[in-house]
Amino acid sequence: MSAELTFLGHSGILYSDGEVTVAVDPFLTGNPVATMGPDDVRCTHVALTHGHEDHFGDTVAIAKANDATVVGAYEIVNFVASQGVEKGEPGNPGGRISLGGDRWIAFTHAFHSSSYEGQYMGMPCGLVLHLGGKTIYHCGDTGLFSDMALIGELYSPSVALIPIGDRFTMGPELASRAADLIGAPTVIPIHYNTWPPIEVDVSAFAPSKSRVHVMQAGDTFTVE
Ligand code: NI
Ligand code: MN
Repeated sequence: MSAELTFLGHSGILYSDGEVTVAVDPFLTGNPVATMGPDDVRCTHVALTHGHEDHFGDTVAIAKANDATVVGAYEIVNFVASQGVEKGEPGNPGGRISLGGDRWIAFTHAFHSSSYEGQYMGMPCGLVLHLGGKTIYHCGDTGLFSDMALIGELYSPSVALIPIGDRFTMGPELASRAADLIGAPTVIPIHYNTWPPIEVDVSAFAPSKSRVHVMQAGDTFTVE
């Protein structure tokens, strides 16, 4: 079995097994590196790590256009319901949501904040997604924390998506330590070089064991 991961730019991805497609953090409108617009996204679910504008992005429009289920913190799912999104699956760190069959999304903690237009959006999260028999860990926006080793041990992700842009998240050096803790065979740097405040040299992201796979917006990667 396999699953396909498409990078949307910044922190956004599409993760799909061909039947179920999850759009994580689909920030496209106003994203200077995005190659797709919200109308190009076909998905069954939208999953959010937290409420910040550079993650929440086009969630409402995409969810409505696709009749998709929004997966996110309790407060985020309540908020999108108030915006007319009909299907939601709320959660919180430590919990797991079934997407039917052997498909699920688990919430991990993340050290960050979470609001949308000044409104509290619950706990920021990382997301572990299991589709097509393959598990990936999207760290969300976070600082380094030693429980990343436990998350790696619990879920054995094939791929980890790790923010490296510094300032709001880890920079490349701490992100390298994060990759070492998680222990995924492949790591993908995210949340960098979208704007000047998070410009970093991606070559400084150099974990000791994991293979670094740099993606540009629009690139697709098969998780074997
Ligand atoms: Ni954020
Ligand atoms: Mn962010």
